[in-house]
Amino acid sequence: MCGIFGYVGHQSNAAEIVLKGLKRLEYRGYDSWGIAAVGQTGARIAVKKKAGKIGGATVDDLPKSTLAFGHTRWATHGGVTDVNAHPHLDCTGTIALIHNGIFENYEQIKKKLIVRGHHFRSETDTEVAVHLIEEYARSMMFTKAVQKAFNDMKGLNAIIVTDVKNHTLIAARNGSPLVVGFGDGENFLASDAAALLPHTKQVHFLEDDEMAIIGVNAIMLFNAKTGEHLQPKKQRLTWNVRDAEKGDYPFLMLKEIYEQPGVVSDIAANAAYVQTHAAHIKKSRGAYLVGCGTASYAAVAGEYLFSKIAKRHVNVAIGSEFGYHLDFLNRDSLIVAISQSGETMDILESVKKARQKGAKILALVNVLGSTLYREADYKLMIDAGPEKGVASTKAFIGMLAHLTLLAYAVAGKTNDGVAVLTRAVVSMKKVLSDPSVRKIKKLAKKLKKSEHIYVIGRGLSYLTALESALKIKEISYIHAEGLAAGELKHGPLALVTKGTPCIAFLPDDETYGANLAGAMEMKARGGYIIGVSHKPHEVFDYYIQVPTAGEATIMPNVVVAQLLAYYLTIERGFDPDMPRNLAKSVTVK
Ligand code: G6P
Repeated sequence: MCGIFGYVGHQSNAAEIVLKGLKRLEYRGYDSWGIAAVGQTGARIAVKKKAGKIGGATVDDLPKSTLAFGHTRWATHGGVTDVNAHPHLDCTGTIALIHNGIFENYEQIKKKLIVRGHHFRSETDTEVAVHLIEEYARSMMFTKAVQKAFNDMKGLNAIIVTDVKNHTLIAARNGSPLVVGFGDGENFLASDAAALLPHTKQVHFLEDDEMAIIGVNAIMLFNAKTGEHLQPKKQRLTWNVRDAEKGDYPFLMLKEIYEQPGVVSDIAANAAYVQTHAAHIKKSRGAYLVGCGTASYAAVAGEYLFSKIAKRHVNVAIGSEFGYHLDFLNRDSLIVAISQSGETMDILESVKKARQKGAKILALVNVLGSTLYREADYKLMIDAGPEKGVASTKAFIGMLAHLTLLAYAVAGKTNDGVAVLTRAVVSMKKVLSDPSVRKIKKLAKKLKKSEHIYVIGRGLSYLTALESALKIKEISYIHAEGLAAGELKHGPLALVTKGTPCIAFLPDDETYGANLAGAMEMKARGGYIIGVSHKPHEVFDYYIQVPTAGEATIMPNVVVAQLLAYYLTIERGFDPDMPRNLAKSVTVK
């Protein structure tokens, strides 16, 4: 959700460095932004903040400085206005603060601060924190004041604070992610490690209740509750700058779609790891696959894959619903928490609750050092490289590849799993070939004015349908619904009229005949049938070919849907990388 970037060092264009940092965080989704620059004179802190996107904005109007920090806001408390954007200043304009999270008890504290004479300019919970620090700093050292204020804040929060005297950034976190980056005569801070890549690969991920004082030459760490001094756990980031940029592609999402065959072939080439994790699953008595959004569909895929390949039942829960499934958890349970970012709050909460029941956690996660990664007993990296398009693509395909391999490994047939992934790579390449993409583009042109699109499938294609509909709606804003084909006659058919677009996934498996019947039911009511299959059929009004890849056919099928969603979005004139109202990583409940 909100992005944070901070710089303190020898360069005098700190605000510009921060602006570039914020641009690298734009993919997270935001509605306003702001930067504070602390000049060397000890005068008031200069702030520039605006509702809307950064676009071509510059920071030429901010003073030259060696310390600056900035924020991209995704509004929670208070509307999307310039005034509500962060950073917020105290009454004197000498303390600035940015914040991620929700300050739950801000109202009581605000009332007390108003009585003490503090003057508030915005409607945000965040501004209360900076006045609270101002209040405490009247009677104690600045660092202590920040620590005390942070400990007063209820909820899951991260704050970054600076003042005109100390030439440091002070950061504290509880729940919301923060990472500090170690440079040479300069240091950094961000909400997301990928934003640090152009500057440094040496990082420390702040744990809950950790506080960092970031100066030019050192970063000091403390426990925010006890004040105890801590040693940073330095890690080296494995990603490259280029991996996180769009290169020659017009949008990140398109680049990430094209990277998918490479992601799956790398996973297949390194399949040896899978045995250890398969052993955890075998040993458990009751496994849950838990995910949110697209990752929840990977979890549903896992349920089908484990049943079909490994003849093993696994439970599935959406992160936000998992809290209502705790009754059967115990020390022998295993939670497979699936998340690209490793920061989705509903997943982190699920993991916390499962732990309280003694369950073990296996994280299937893409971001090294993320909170989920650190919390897990067993860590399985998705290894899809940085994913920046808000709508998950390559991380999803990576999740599917690992779950397929795991299911085969549990069945004692890892080699068959590798073979099936290899077929999926070939099939995905075919879908991504020029003639196939041209066909999908042509379809997007045909469908661009549709109000509704229905997508049907059975078995593994059921969740292909769910994920396809999600992709279409989240970026093109066309209402799309994914359905189990068998459910059509229980309601959805009522909505099919002449010309209603219906996408039917018909892979070469046991679902083919029954799925075809669904397509025919649609057709009989006037539906325009788009068949995605290994072979054409007369019921199809439009046909997209996908070569069979056994149990992994779901992967090329999803690629068709990703491309269709992408080109629908382009046709309709929207930005696929930054869909309205959505964020890449949902770090609030
Ligand atoms: C957001 C993103 C989705 C993603 C979901 C879960 O809603 O827009 O693309 O699937 O969060 O994210 P995670 O990082 O936990 O996989």
